[in-house]
Amino acid sequence: MANQYEVLGKAPGAEDLKKLSSENIHLTIKGLSAGYGKMEILHNFDLFVSKAQSLCLIGPNGAGKSTILHSIYGFTNIFSGKIEIDGKEITNLSPAEKLKSEGIAYILQDNSVFPDMTVEENLLMGGYIKDKTEESFEEAERVLQKYERLRNRRNQPAKVLSGGERRLLEISRALVMKPSILLVDEPSIGLEPRYIQMVFEILDDLQKNEKKTIILVEQNAKKGLEFADIGYVLVSGETAIAGKGDDLLNNPDVGRLFLGG
Ligand SMILES: Nc1ncnc2c1ncn2[C@@H]1O[C@H](COP(=O)(O)OP(=O)(O)OP(=O)(O)O)[C@@H](O)[C@H]1O
Ligand SMILES: [Mg+2]
Repeated sequence: MANQYEVLGKAPGAEDLKKLSSENIHLTIKGLSAGYGKMEILHNFDLFVSKAQSLCLIGPNGAGKSTILHSIYGFTNIFSGKIEIDGKEITNLSPAEKLKSEGIAYILQDNSVFPDMTVEENLLMGGYIKDKTEESFEEAERVLQKYERLRNRRNQPAKVLSGGERRLLEISRALVMKPSILLVDEPSIGLEPRYIQMVFEILDDLQKNEKKTIILVEQNAKKGLEFADIGYVLVSGETAIAGKGDDLLNNPDVGRLFLGG
């Protein structure tokens, strides 16, 4: 396919990708081919991310970025390949099992808060799948203690929240399950600049202080690569370039194609 991305060349191999992580790899994707129905979107895709590391996927519309998150969480058809956590295969577990037993949370957005429920009730919804509801209460309380913006509005309906506060609620609702991996699709979308900054500060805190592993898709390539330890540039279902976030920010091809430089 001849297009402006062709110059990016051939996909880096698994060994190149592994070098971007430490020895202690938390989530591994090996040779994944996956898609929707019979249509294959991801082709022999590999990914490696360590515990408490962050990885940002960038690339043009339709490249398959969201499909990677969907595949990790269990929303796609997997034709071949493997997904592992700490060496344990989880490829074909259901989303519910992934959330409950494997600590993978997929952060829904696009106004996924329940507007007429209170902030606290919204948080508790994050734990609906748990057997022990008292644990959900404890975690919701911990989240409320942590985020003053939510605490101040705990008994108010979520519809009164600002755009940034809603995004915070969407992220923190996932925290009620105490996940080790956060899958975050375009956290900055639709937010004013000051809230975009806030969202990245929240993610940074979750990575650094709570040791969450974060896999993020970001249309705002500059913000995403500034935030993340590692970046993958996805083109037509394959990784065309991968590197440390800072290196990609300075890569002239990435600059020209994705950073408006
Ligand atoms: N639920 C679905 N059923 C069928 N095809 C889908 C579905 N979701 C996405 N696709 C197709 O898969 C391809 C990759 O889509 P995907 O959403 O992963 O791209 P993306 O890189 O996240 O793009 P964007 O930047 O626009 O969000 C597209 O061709 C899209 O039309
Ligand atoms: Mg997408």
